[in-house]
Amino acid sequence: MKALKIGILGLGTVGAGVFNVLNRNQDEIIRRTGRGIEVVMVCRRNVAAAQEIVGNSVPVVADPSALINHPEIDVIVELMGGDTLSKELVLAAIANGKHIVTANKALLAVHGTEIFAAANAKGVIVAFEAAVAGGIPIIKSLREGLSANRIEWVAGIINGTTNFILSEMREKGLDFAVVLKEAQRLGYAEADPTFDVEGVDAAHKLTLMSSIAFGVPVQFSKAFIQGISELTATDINYAEVLGYRIKLLGITKRTSKGIELRVHPCLVPSKRLIANVEGAMNAVMVCGDAVGTTLHYGKGAGSEPTGSAVIADLIDIARLSDATPAQRVPFLAFQSQHLSDFPVLSMDEVVTSYYLRIRVADQPGVLANIASIFAKHNISIDALRQREADEVCGEGANQTDLVVLTHDCNEGQMKMALEQIQALPTVLDKVILIRKEELA
Ligand code: HSE
Repeated sequence: MKALKIGILGLGTVGAGVFNVLNRNQDEIIRRTGRGIEVVMVCRRNVAAAQEIVGNSVPVVADPSALINHPEIDVIVELMGGDTLSKELVLAAIANGKHIVTANKALLAVHGTEIFAAANAKGVIVAFEAAVAGGIPIIKSLREGLSANRIEWVAGIINGTTNFILSEMREKGLDFAVVLKEAQRLGYAEADPTFDVEGVDAAHKLTLMSSIAFGVPVQFSKAFIQGISELTATDINYAEVLGYRIKLLGITKRTSKGIELRVHPCLVPSKRLIANVEGAMNAVMVCGDAVGTTLHYGKGAGSEPTGSAVIADLIDIARLSDATPAQRVPFLAFQSQHLSDFPVLSMDEVVTSYYLRIRVADQPGVLANIASIFAKHNISIDALRQREADEVCGEGANQTDLVVLTHDCNEGQMKMALEQIQALPTVLDKVILIRKEELA
């Protein structure tokens, strides 16, 4: 059978991984698919840099249209990133009848609806295993392996940079800014780390998982996004003492009112496996009504791990390109005419539990006042900890930290309670709020 012919747009770290693994494992791939996968052409603005990766074996061009319009190329592998030029090129390739494999979460989280519609109209495949959690086959698991289930929730550590930073902060007791610098020095964090540390990268990935889990359109603009740049070693340490670790989680849940779609730092019980995912590793928990809770763990980035996901998509296309669109797995796991308009909930409607750290004057009635505000808003306290003022603020201090864990409540209620607590004259600093999930 004739080889599947591909063109790679953007030959950087991931492209090199794809190229190397394809070369190394070509025989194994042919054993699996009955046909080879052949790189016909690659495109990179810096042609010499690309030639260092592919040698003389494959033509390298600087002009992407040479690939998009190449009559022999069946599949465009888009590894450029960004969501402007990449969108233009992907739509042009689809219009030319080419299948797409992409690692570009921003592109699909923001423009997925338009891209999937164009691909459906043209009868071509858009595959994106590499866009979420790198080498972990979470898209295939959600879309195929767990397809018998009504998915209840998905929660994941889906950004390695932030997980590395949080692990270092916890292990070494260092603050965010110090660890970020070290992460940049070691190459774990980008020179401009905003997308990673402010949770945007995780929200792109979560948006895609949410669509596949619940059969809803991609709705990145409705995601709640909070990163880790405000976290302190103090809260990481308090959480540890209370039996929790703080992780940047992407959480999407089905509730009776709609879908939660949120990325934020989160306390997770230390005894959960996911709480022990350290360094740059990723992990995703999926809860389905039939299967219960599953955990998917592995490398969320890197040349060959991400290349592994890209090639898995290419193998699917090698097997399925001759099938009719109706015989293929739908892009968002559900038939496009059955996507639901179930709403994404605002944060005020989200129900979760909380960790609060309140810097208070150490005098009579302070705790009672705070407790009565919680009671008035129907918020139940789960645990409370107050250390001696001397221990927190030094000898003779007359202020201390009150750390409160709550049971589940509505975030809107919590906001109202916090406004009143914050206004108390005995509350001396901005109250720290971190959400908490038991993930049971
Ligand atoms: N920058 C991402 C991370 C990998 O740190 O996990 C690519 O999405």
